[in-house]
Amino acid sequence: MIDGMRIQPARRIHGRLSLPGDKSISHRAAIMAALASGRSVLRNYATSDDCARTLACLGQLGAAIGREGSSVAVTGVGAGGLRASGVPLDCGNSGTTIRMLAGVLAGQEFASVLTGDDSLRSRPMRRVIEPLELMGAKVSSRDGCAPLEIKGRRPLLPVSYEMPVASAQVKSCVLLAGLSAEGRTRVIERGGPTRDHTERMLGWFGVPVETSHQEDEQQSNTFSVDGPGHLHARDGVIPGDISSAVFFIAAAALLPGSELEIKGVGLNPTRAQVLSTLRGLGARVTVNDATGDLGLQGEDFHEPFGDIHTSGGDGLAPLEAGRSNVLSGALIAQLIDELPMLAVLGTQVAGGLSIRDASELRVKETDRISATVANLRAMGAEVEEYADGLGVAGGARLRGALLDARGDHRIAMASAVAALVAEGESEIKGAEECVGVSFPEFFSVLESVVER
Ligand code: S3P
Repeated sequence: MIDGMRIQPARRIHGRLSLPGDKSISHRAAIMAALASGRSVLRNYATSDDCARTLACLGQLGAAIGREGSSVAVTGVGAGGLRASGVPLDCGNSGTTIRMLAGVLAGQEFASVLTGDDSLRSRPMRRVIEPLELMGAKVSSRDGCAPLEIKGRRPLLPVSYEMPVASAQVKSCVLLAGLSAEGRTRVIERGGPTRDHTERMLGWFGVPVETSHQEDEQQSNTFSVDGPGHLHARDGVIPGDISSAVFFIAAAALLPGSELEIKGVGLNPTRAQVLSTLRGLGARVTVNDATGDLGLQGEDFHEPFGDIHTSGGDGLAPLEAGRSNVLSGALIAQLIDELPMLAVLGTQVAGGLSIRDASELRVKETDRISATVANLRAMGAEVEEYADGLGVAGGARLRGALLDARGDHRIAMASAVAALVAEGESEIKGAEECVGVSFPEFFSVLESVVER
């Protein structure tokens, strides 16, 4: 039997880091570079398995991919230039790969099969099947799940599609399909803004996306793209992944005497909400303009970035007691990947933390509500589970325990931070195997800044 990852409590976090490139930005840069005419060099490309899957699929579809260290060179095929892959495209564990490629492949004149691992093949795909069929593609699935067989059509029909869930993956899928449509494709998003990397990056590669905001009850946004769209190759540096940074920031905020600087982190406003949320809970987090150590300059891919400094405090207390202790509504889509970490942090905040309106967490790489509840309870925290979230009591004294990553990278990393602030050793089952999905270096980077 393979032992899990053993973690001892930490005294404090101290040091300076730069992190691998943002996963969401990396996927999009690779896909758009593959569709563009010409050669793009993407620097600080994510080291994650998920982003490697995207590159491998694009290679199978005819783009030329070269990788040297953290730089990836993509020679794109130009509009309509992809060719059929003779074999199914394996997206591994990556929801972003399968949903975005579905949008691209819907607009090709050939058939493709997209599949993935057991977790990915159990995740909901009707959310992309429905709009792509409205646009004229034929998509067959196994009861709404992958494998997806996509019979593409070129040109696609432009649609106005109102998303039933607030999902950047769905929005991106439809906008990418819109590049192969004739006319204006619109996506309407309600229930709060989701990450906007696709909109920014389409503009960077030469096809602007028009965004309009309606001041209605649901604060909806409409995104429009005019097809057919022709992308042009461009080089750029990808900023560090804020969703990876969060684990280090949380650990530093929780351990008194910590000082941590993370250089060149992506600060896109639709992702950086977590920093305001952490500050609202009393964490000492500041942001400075960055030069970074990554060669970042300007705003490549139209993505802002900066350096993040965190100092450890002596116990966290919300700035606005009560209000800051509930995360719900439009905030949720902007914090979606950070919620397991915030739940862990919430156990150490005066007044605790409640997360609602977050049932999407149940259909991520694993059911993240159930996994977080089980792990925190194993450590002795007082936790309530709701259909759409969870509530943790504050001021918990976590004790080391046997935890289960359930094959989910973010559960593994959030559990590791919980283990650092607990009393006694913890063991996280499956952690080493699954962090590679987003951040293979996670445990070695963590050890480089932990002091015991
Ligand atoms: C992502 C969007 C989110 C997020 C995922 C990456 C993206 O998923 O959870 O890790 O890159 O677009 P949803 O858009 O389905 O919520």
